[in-house]
Amino acid sequence: MIISDQGAAGRLQIAIDGPAASGKSTVALGIARRIGLVVVDSGSMYRTVALISMEEGISADDPEALVEIARRVSSSFRLELAEGDTLRVYLGERDVTAEIRSPEVGRSVSPVSEEPGVRAEMVRLQRCLVEGRDAVVEGRDIGTTVLPDAPLKVFLEATSPERTRRRALELEARGVDVDRDQVREEIALRDRIDSSRAVSPLRLAADAVPIDTTDKTAADVVDEIVGLLADKGLIH
Ligand code: DC
Repeated sequence: MIISDQGAAGRLQIAIDGPAASGKSTVALGIARRIGLVVVDSGSMYRTVALISMEEGISADDPEALVEIARRVSSSFRLELAEGDTLRVYLGERDVTAEIRSPEVGRSVSPVSEEPGVRAEMVRLQRCLVEGRDAVVEGRDIGTTVLPDAPLKVFLEATSPERTRRRALELEARGVDVDRDQVREEIALRDRIDSSRAVSPLRLAADAVPIDTTDKTAADVVDEIVGLLADKGLIH
């Protein structure tokens, strides 16, 4: 698969947004593998800030301390595409991949990501990681804020029961004891906070293509996005 000439400074940058457990990470990795792009999971950055703030006993209502942590995270954050299609997350030499997926971090990340100073730092880091590169970036505000000029934006959706099922399976696969009602409530709470926060709420960008993934496999969705890229003449 060949990436078409994107013009003088342009790059093939794909923005994937959507609510929790809508399939963004799996699909982004699939596209990155298929076309050969850098992949950026922006949620892992907010999760890392939440992990460090938990470890240091910083609460979500101490914005200055949170922003200081965001700056530190930003200066040593690294993503590495590893064997078995996993995106490993490092803070310096420390591998935080598993820890940032814990239910505790899941519960504390939304309030942390509401802080405007933290968001500003994370957006800067995301732009810096893809500067001058072909990339697929996934999150909540990629199409609206981080890469407003991305040549392809998609917004993944899925019903609440399906997202609950996916998140529960993901947690179970990592050996976490799962109460599905609790998983459903936590996803609903995260959706509410992500959609209603003042800065960069979760929104469908005007030029984004919505894709309902409820009855589709990740491979189906990757095929669909590759089809959209070909239709737009972005790959051939
Ligand atoms: O995609 P995820 O579940 O790993 O994201 C974790 C949290 O980070 C999510 O509750 C909202 C926040 N987030 C955000 O505010 N903006 C992004 N671009 C990505 C994630």
